[in-house]
Amino acid sequence: MRIVYVIGTRPNFVKTAPVISALRARLPEGRHTIVHTGQHYDRLMSDVFLEELGVPAPDHMLEVGSGSHAQQTARVMERLEPVLEAERPDLVMVPGDVNSTLAAVLTAAKMRIPVAHIESGLRSFDRTMPEEVNRIVADEFSELLFLHSDEAIENLRAEGIATERMHFVGNTMIDTLVALEGRIGEIGSAERLGLESGSFALVTLHRPALVDGPLLPETVRRLVDLAEKMPVVFPVHPRTRKMMEEASGEHSGLMLTEPLGYLEFLSLMTDAGAVLTDSGGIQEETTYLGIPCFTLRDNTERPVTIRAGTNTLLGLDPAAIAGIPAALAQRPPAKPDPPPFWDGHASERIAEIVAG
Ligand code: UD1
Repeated sequence: MRIVYVIGTRPNFVKTAPVISALRARLPEGRHTIVHTGQHYDRLMSDVFLEELGVPAPDHMLEVGSGSHAQQTARVMERLEPVLEAERPDLVMVPGDVNSTLAAVLTAAKMRIPVAHIESGLRSFDRTMPEEVNRIVADEFSELLFLHSDEAIENLRAEGIATERMHFVGNTMIDTLVALEGRIGEIGSAERLGLESGSFALVTLHRPALVDGPLLPETVRRLVDLAEKMPVVFPVHPRTRKMMEEASGEHSGLMLTEPLGYLEFLSLMTDAGAVLTDSGGIQEETTYLGIPCFTLRDNTERPVTIRAGTNTLLGLDPAAIAGIPAALAQRPPAKPDPPPFWDGHASERIAEIVAG
């Protein structure tokens, strides 16, 4: 069996690493080809992750880099097609909802190569998000849909997708976390920054709706206020850094860092008193770890994290950040059970289904 895995961004690596490793173990005679689109290309956004997660060196680097949505998508399609022509795989495996995912699905579908989609069926019902468009297309054109939460079943059914294509396997991002929990526990990032466990807020922001417009300076002002109550650590995504430099606001009092590696970031998350984010994956990791998460968005494609009780939707209004200390004081201390199949074995289930 020949499988081509197409990955391109930081969260893709975390979701796909355990699947590649489970399939290589299950199908040792198979051909496993890794294509890195190059959507993320900075060392801190890509190489560090591949190394830490133990992803083998990619067989093909497409080096598409940054650009508009159309440019990025078109470049991946143009450069992936000859690779798929040469490899003629039985299956193309794609994770998540980024532009690289969309491009890979379209390319393979037109070449009539079956596609498997990891993290299928999530919906924010907000088509202004580029990721929502990518998710809908990826699910429509994938033969194998790997679901990480049960709400995905209803979402897909509502779009007329046949139940036979759906496989509720669990969360592969949590597989990575479970596999590396021991190493994460040894890093001690908080201690090295002089932070007491449970005392600080960890912040990540990168979505266009928040960082590409006037909300960013207001958000940073609110974070500076929050930092008077609890230390605020903020590893800054390149997109956000660019916008912060243009806005040139005041951010004294915040601990700004470069994007962190997986182990270092997860170590900080484990010790955080609260996490404030607009990321999808971080809503899930905090749910597994039982860390209070506040999501600066109007909606989430991951309502399972809200039901679990760890995640609170703050909305897009940065003023809501002021309510975090009071919300923390009222939270029950008990750590909830993780959602079904967020157990470290989702990738093995995927490998079983693919190997048939
Ligand atoms: C992308 C995904 C988003 C995902 C996020 C994770 C899409 C539509 N968006 O957003 O769903 O949550 O990745 O990080 O696919 N840049 C660098 N170095 C890099 C990569 C990007 O400096 O290695 C800068 C460039 O200025 C670029 C900007 O960041 O223009 C945005 O990068 P892009 O890949 O377009 O989207 P992300 O915001 O990273």
